Amino acid sequence: MEDLERVVADAEAAFGAITDPVELEHVKARFLGKAGVLSEASKGLGRMAPEQRKEAGQRINAAKGRVEAALAARREALAHEALEARLREEAVDVTLPGRKRGLGSIHPVIRTWQRVEEIFGSIGFDVADGPEIETDWFNFTALNQPENHPARSMHDTFYVEGGYLLRTHTSPMQVRYARMHEPPLKVIAPGRTYRVDSDATHSPMFHQVEGLWIGEDISFADLKGVYTDFLRQFFETDDLVVRFRPSFFPFTEPSAEIDMAFESGPLKGRWLEISGSGQVHPAVIRNFGLDPERYIGFAFGSGLERLTMLRYGVDDLRLFFEGDLRFLRQFA
Ligand code: PHE
Repeated sequence: MEDLERVVADAEAAFGAITDPVELEHVKARFLGKAGVLSEASKGLGRMAPEQRKEAGQRINAAKGRVEAALAARREALAHEALEARLREEAVDVTLPGRKRGLGSIHPVIRTWQRVEEIFGSIGFDVADGPEIETDWFNFTALNQPENHPARSMHDTFYVEGGYLLRTHTSPMQVRYARMHEPPLKVIAPGRTYRVDSDATHSPMFHQVEGLWIGEDISFADLKGVYTDFLRQFFETDDLVVRFRPSFFPFTEPSAEIDMAFESGPLKGRWLEISGSGQVHPAVIRNFGLDPERYIGFAFGSGLERLTMLRYGVDDLRLFFEGDLRFLRQFA
């Protein structure tokens, strides 16, 4: 019976060491369960003399009471701790700044697209939009580039079921627009274009803007004047020079590559190619449904990424398509 003090002390120590409420219920059985220490002690009562039995029974009950009290106290303490922990965890720091809704901005290439529309719009050019999935006829044949023409190899593209292809340039829009409008034709057609090509200056998807001006007396001098004026407005400087370098396109004759150079700044003196251009070929005028003896004019096709790279000094075109906010935020 001396042991009862020890049993109580053991129980208090065992309960006190437990931090998990489920485990506490397991340990409880060791002291208060049917096979627990105290139940075992009660079983011994039957063998005792009646006068001893009464006293021993009282002592066992008292011990049981103290163990139960220790258990209840521990249960409560654990429940309290759990609540405290939860409150700590779910605490809201009302002094933190709120979550703002992020403000979006226009992608730099689309910004160029918009500026090009504004500038050409201000000098009387219509803006047209056309399909990115094109027919072979509009993309090549109508542009004086029949099947097996060697220049097609520079425009390898993605072929779509049903004989369609992803347009390799915006030039098919010359033909589409001309066949739906009466001359004089004065239009730009910006949009997405596709080629099987990928490196620091080429992306399989890129943007171009086509320009077309056809009338009865539109000359190469008009092309030079209009395009130079456009570049001065686009780059917001008169401090640039423009050069027309002889080139070849099946749909223009003569053809020229348009180069420009800044007269000051980090790119001073370097010639940079920005556009193909030329006087629209008589065979193409005929595909417009017009008489090449009467109508004449020019076309150009410029890369919007190229113009954007020069405007902002970006040297890798792939940056425009990676969606890296650290890069894009610089233009916001
Ligand atoms: N379509 C040509 C290209 O993508 C550019 C061009 C357009 C050249 C119009 C002349 C006239 O390479």
